[in-house]
Amino acid sequence: MGKKVLVVTGGGDCPGLNAVIRAIVKRSAQEKDCEVIGSIESYNGILVDPMEVVVLNEYAVAGIHVRGGTIIGTTNKGGPFAWPVQNEDGSWSAVDRSQELLQRIQNLSIDAVISIGGDGSQKISQKLFEMGCNIIGVPKTIDNDLSATDFTFGFRTAVQIATESVDKLVTTAESHNRIMIMEVMGRQAGWIALHSAIAGGAEVCLIPEIPYDIDKVMEKINSRFSNGKGFVVIVVAEGAKPKGGTVTGTISREAGYENIRLGGVAYKLKQEIKDKGCEASSRVTVLGHLQRGGIPIAIDRLLATQFGVKAFEMVLEEDFGKMVSARHPNIVSVPLEEATKHYNFIGKDSNLLKTARGIGMCLGD
Ligand code: F6P
Repeated sequence: MGKKVLVVTGGGDCPGLNAVIRAIVKRSAQEKDCEVIGSIESYNGILVDPMEVVVLNEYAVAGIHVRGGTIIGTTNKGGPFAWPVQNEDGSWSAVDRSQELLQRIQNLSIDAVISIGGDGSQKISQKLFEMGCNIIGVPKTIDNDLSATDFTFGFRTAVQIATESVDKLVTTAESHNRIMIMEVMGRQAGWIALHSAIAGGAEVCLIPEIPYDIDKVMEKINSRFSNGKGFVVIVVAEGAKPKGGTVTGTISREAGYENIRLGGVAYKLKQEIKDKGCEASSRVTVLGHLQRGGIPIAIDRLLATQFGVKAFEMVLEEDFGKMVSARHPNIVSVPLEEATKHYNFIGKDSNLLKTARGIGMCLGD
């Protein structure tokens, strides 16, 4: 019997989301009488009146695997368990609309939901599964901080963008005898920072997993300058913090936005370096959302396509409450509960850290 599938994309966007959507639709077209619809801006499309849903057929998804973003929109605010509603005094409260969501999904005769999203989205998937929803998760994050999968799509595109940026900063740093500090994304885990620092040849890399000691950073800087000549490139993850200190960011005023809006650690570091008496001039580059935009590189399109095909096959097998996962060389399914239990941190014994130290990179410790 044909299946009717609802697809949602949740959380921050990520290169490869469209390639997943296209693969789901193309795989569904191999079966008889299957239908795929997309909810606009995650579950919001189902919960608003009138509903905002679109039919995702082969025509709608033709050629979208090369496009960044998501054709069905996304949001990292609110969600069915914490739907923001404005009070009379202008303040915001959160209400639980999860039961209503499931009812609306049932009214649409949906057989299964495929939720493409990061840690927050997959925690929602697990809760909906526990309430009886036939749900399958597809992991998505440029930060690569989801456990239970080797990689998430979008991550390697972000690494490519960050590495090309390091390459550019090296030439200008060298020409001006400067310290160039580049801030990249990575809330809990420093995967983008470490990969791009090694690939681009940065001298210093600071990640959330290793609180940094500014004196160690200064040792490296001083070793690189002689008679005012020299240069240093520092890659710092947005979630990095000094030893005994906290992350740099602001509380968002946007309704339903629960995360601290990270950003600014590179400027803090610049000041700390200056306070240590460093005479070399320094400049800051915050890569920000450039890392999330644009076309996915080939390897991410490939992984996203594998994930999409697998997700639809899990619908056919009724393998619900699971998340698609890359376990080289296979694409497998793992319980959502497992997948959302832990973050994928860079472990102390990671070969990447050994490699970084092996080429003399300062990791701030
Ligand atoms: O989790 C992905 C991520 O890109 C983080 O690295 C970053 O802190 C966050 O999303 C920013 O999200 P936005 O600016 O879209 O709210």
